[in-house]
Amino acid sequence: MIEELIVRTHYCADVNETHIDEIVTVSGWVASRRDHGGLIFIDLRDKDQVVQIVCDPADNAEAHKLAENVRDQFVLIVTGKVRARGEGLENPKLKTGKIEIVADKLVIENSSKPMPFELGDDKVNEEIRLKYRYLELRTQKSYDIFKLRSKATIATRNALDELDFLEVETPIITKSTPEGARDYLVPSRVHTGEFYALPQSPQLFKQLLMVGGFDRYFQIAKCFRDEDLRADRQPEFTQIDVEMSFCDQEDVIEVGEKLIHSVFKNCGYDIPEKFNRMSYSDAMEFYGSDKPDMRYDLKMVDVLDIFARCDNAIFSNIAKDPNKNRIKALKVPKGDEIFSKRQMKGFEDYVRKFGASGLGYFQMKEDGLKGPLTKFFTDEDITAIIERCELEVGDAVFFGAGNKKLVWDYMGRFRIYLAEIMNIIPKDKFEFLWVMDFPMFESDDGKVKAMHHAFTMPQTDENGKIVYDDIEELKSIAYDIVLNGTELGGGSIRIHKEELQKEIFKLMGISDEEAEEKFGFLLEAFKYGAPPHGGFALGLDRMIMLMTGASSIREVIAFPKTQKAQCILTQAPSEVDQEQLNDLNLRIRKIEA
Ligand code: AMO
Repeated sequence: MIEELIVRTHYCADVNETHIDEIVTVSGWVASRRDHGGLIFIDLRDKDQVVQIVCDPADNAEAHKLAENVRDQFVLIVTGKVRARGEGLENPKLKTGKIEIVADKLVIENSSKPMPFELGDDKVNEEIRLKYRYLELRTQKSYDIFKLRSKATIATRNALDELDFLEVETPIITKSTPEGARDYLVPSRVHTGEFYALPQSPQLFKQLLMVGGFDRYFQIAKCFRDEDLRADRQPEFTQIDVEMSFCDQEDVIEVGEKLIHSVFKNCGYDIPEKFNRMSYSDAMEFYGSDKPDMRYDLKMVDVLDIFARCDNAIFSNIAKDPNKNRIKALKVPKGDEIFSKRQMKGFEDYVRKFGASGLGYFQMKEDGLKGPLTKFFTDEDITAIIERCELEVGDAVFFGAGNKKLVWDYMGRFRIYLAEIMNIIPKDKFEFLWVMDFPMFESDDGKVKAMHHAFTMPQTDENGKIVYDDIEELKSIAYDIVLNGTELGGGSIRIHKEELQKEIFKLMGISDEEAEEKFGFLLEAFKYGAPPHGGFALGLDRMIMLMTGASSIREVIAFPKTQKAQCILTQAPSEVDQEQLNDLNLRIRKIEA
């Protein structure tokens, strides 16, 4: 008779005091092995927990002999009796810390080369960790992240199903979609010289699904963008993509809040059912960012009118054009007590990196406002600064002056920098914020570009007409959802009427021919009864990154790319066979660097 090998009766985590004196079989990887001269202790780990195995030559000499050859990350199947560890020997940090398994039978199912790095050591060079990503995935930290990600994905599906959304897949090899980044292109073999693009998002398809009458769509969608990578950006990422018909902005926001609330709740986090809102313009004026981190205060105030009266030509000149320029003050409570004069001067170097020409500061002392620039102000204006900034003794106030976009940018960055060095960012807090009323357009070197995309509905008057003096002042019905200073998602109500769409294209300098060539299929579809519609997309990877407090988006993606968009594990991108190139009718021309 062939003896059947039992590979597992329990997961490691499930063995506890209730099993004392029972025979169990556990299997997994050797997390550590300690030889205490005579007794050998093995921490055996399966998907998510460790259990202690004891190999005692007095109990089973054969198992003990085998255990002598065991090394880290060997794969074992161990059968034995569960016993209490005994007083003083328990490990309260482990779920299985009260018991151990006395090995009666030990099978070395597989050996392992020595680890190329110590598992769980975050200081190890990321390239090495990514090359052996499957080993890093063996850590408790990774398992916990992916368990949460799985929960969040399932909760997303359940929440949207409950809200009557239909899950629909859209194409991966398709035509380029206008999200503003570069496309990843896929050459066509059948149509020589022609290319598909990988979708930057399912934007146009989800709008077509609305024309198709599906009413409520969602997709956990893979998106691809060839753009500069950062800690919260990957070339290949996942969106929770949502679109709905016959809705207004409030309906979409309600779905967004219900979805996010439900996902966080299912993942064990209690968050509010409704989120605060702020206009884009307030976000920029007060926080210098369209994604302000609301976990801490540090709010900017406008002091341009006071500086306009000062006796310093640089500031009074800047103040002459309040439409284009800003003079912003950022109060740091107790800043004068916290920072040395040297540090305060050093802050200037920080903002200079982002284009600032300088950074002024005042200190609020017992005997009044001090600082290199006070001499340029009258007593009344010194009082006005103290009152406007609500300064108290011990506070410091920093100010930036110049072009408004530049000032918003560097003062916004400075706000974050200060919060970081002052260590005032609460780590276990989720602060959601809707940023609303985005400008419809931004102009880049005189060229008008859509801030979201060309199909975003502008805010119109009661007759459905757009009205504006300055095109950059025209607002859209677009909203972003911000979490702890990161853009978690964004969306808009879309234009569904041809006439308005044409007008917007015209303002953007997109000719009829160009519109036809780029989005002709969508414009054609809109001629067949397009319903009013809108939606949003949330970055799933970013959401998990923020939920888990991961320092990089790469930690929450099973097989991520490096900052240089490479997959070190598979060595992608890589050259391909000449035969494949021939099939595609492609020739590589190497350009000397
Ligand atoms: P948007 O371009 O704002 O909107 O993207 C939505 C969300 O997707 C996430 N995201 C990314 N995550 C990781 N790496 C990236 N490279 C990356 N790029 C974007 C962000 C972002 O907020 N079609 C529209 C949505 C709509 O209008 O409905 C869109 O894609 O979390």
